[in-house]
Amino acid sequence: MTKKIRKAVFPVGGLGTRFLPVTKAMPKEMLPVVDKPLIQYAVEEALEAGIEEIIFVTGRGKAAIEDFFDHSFELRQVLGERGKSAELHTIEFPVLEAGSIVYTRQQDPLGLGHAVWCARELVGDEPFAILLADDLVMADTPCLKQMVDVFEETGGNVVAVEDVPPEHTNRYGILDVASDDGRLAEVKGLVEKPDPAVAPSTLSIIGRYILLPEIFDYLSERKKGAGGEIQLTDSMARMIGQAPFHGLRFEGTRFDCGDKAGFFEANVAFALARPELHDQIKDIVKTYAAEDGH
Ligand code: G1P
Repeated sequence: MTKKIRKAVFPVGGLGTRFLPVTKAMPKEMLPVVDKPLIQYAVEEALEAGIEEIIFVTGRGKAAIEDFFDHSFELRQVLGERGKSAELHTIEFPVLEAGSIVYTRQQDPLGLGHAVWCARELVGDEPFAILLADDLVMADTPCLKQMVDVFEETGGNVVAVEDVPPEHTNRYGILDVASDDGRLAEVKGLVEKPDPAVAPSTLSIIGRYILLPEIFDYLSERKKGAGGEIQLTDSMARMIGQAPFHGLRFEGTRFDCGDKAGFFEANVAFALARPELHDQIKDIVKTYAAEDGH
């Protein structure tokens, strides 16, 4: 019997430099896709996958995230008095049971591996999930739920993957694949942001991981990798061979919201998926696309 995945780590300490100036005074994880912040989509996905404890690794200037997952008494009162029950529901939903969200701080931005290491005492000795809110996934079955199912099958490390154009390998962690059945790829190597000329494949990690707690043994060495940062990918690579390690080609569409075009595309896709917005948004997109053709 594999252990249940109960805890999820959300590294939210990044500076968000790619979205300056807006991220000067707000966390990038609070950027809205239609009307919900990126972090809410990620937390909802985790809850739908059975996660019971949310661990945020935050940093300076991220207080808006803590406020977002707390009650807003003023809004509650005003909306209640005005009988706005639909709006009231939207602000109540992200508030989880007291004690199920914990926060720790990454005091220095030393890299994703370091951010995850900051959660070691909170995770303890059990397999856990990591979700990067920048990667937004639209799927019938939440991406993390698909991964939990694979973890229950294999009992090992699982990362969600998708093929990227060869010229984009230097943006992501890339798999070296031992065998591949089209759904699950057995991992024999991992490289962080390789140059297209030396990339072992085009199969890239998206920001969803299920890892065994042994990862902390390697992260604690705090070795620097690509870009001078402590990379999660490097420590994951060192776990290969000790337990099963698979890349799951998840079912769904991933939007890289760490990138301006990807973030815009996510907004269009999620707005089109809303019945009340669909027709209006479609007309707008059509109009602009047609004008651009002249
Ligand atoms: C991080 C990881 C990378 C992964 C990517 C997914 O990179 O280091 O391996 O492919 O997230 O979004 P970052 O986006 O922080 O540069």
